Amino acid sequence: MALSPVITIDGPSGSGKGTLCQMLARELGWHLLDSGALYRIVGLAAQKQQVSFDDEAALAELAAHLDVEFRAGIEGEPSTVWLDGEDISDQVRSESTGELASKVAVFNAVREALKDLQRDFAKAPGLIADGRDMGTVIFTDAAVKIFLIASAEERASRRYKQLISKGESVNLAALLKDIQKRDERDMNRAVAPLRPADDAVVIDSTAVAIEDVFNQVLARVSSALELSS
Ligand code: C5P
Repeated sequence: MALSPVITIDGPSGSGKGTLCQMLARELGWHLLDSGALYRIVGLAAQKQQVSFDDEAALAELAAHLDVEFRAGIEGEPSTVWLDGEDISDQVRSESTGELASKVAVFNAVREALKDLQRDFAKAPGLIADGRDMGTVIFTDAAVKIFLIASAEERASRRYKQLISKGESVNLAALLKDIQKRDERDMNRAVAPLRPADDAVVIDSTAVAIEDVFNQVLARVSSALELSS
């Protein structure tokens, strides 16, 4: 039996990956893996259970036994994330949780503990996988691999507008600094550093509307799927 096709979308935070993945999953009617949410959940669980962020074995143990559920949003509502039966969607997406995620994500044992869970998302009719190492580690045989980038300034400005529209008070310079710090940690870690796979297509979204990126990727996906069928 042929395996379900997988499209990987990797790149730094704020590059437009999340939006692009949701647009693709909706258009194709495929499953969506938000792998960043898994690292965020491990970070949150560690904080709640007061596990030290230096204790690789304990963090991996947490990651291996996550009671997590993703619920699709109904009628255009955003999807929700549940941990131990509690809706943690808002906490999962906060800036501070992103910071916790990038701290637990440096550990090999944590990454190993999340591998099977991520691969289990690859089911018919197909999967859109959003992350940092989807194309380089988790789904190396993906039908199409995209690496989406944008300048740090543009990514900070997008995040700024998003937070302001939610009524949060934020400082653009501080956001930019946080983004640069997280990029630095993600790109320079020893295990699964953020980088494009050799067979990935790199797309720069700095000055391109997300709809244009979406159309470009959809065209690639259509031709790759036709070729392999
Ligand atoms: O994509 P998101 O911002 O939710 O990811 C949060 C953090 O989780 C990233 O900064 C990165 O450190 C980590 N991550 C990772 N590998 C993935 C997805 C996320 O290391 N596949």
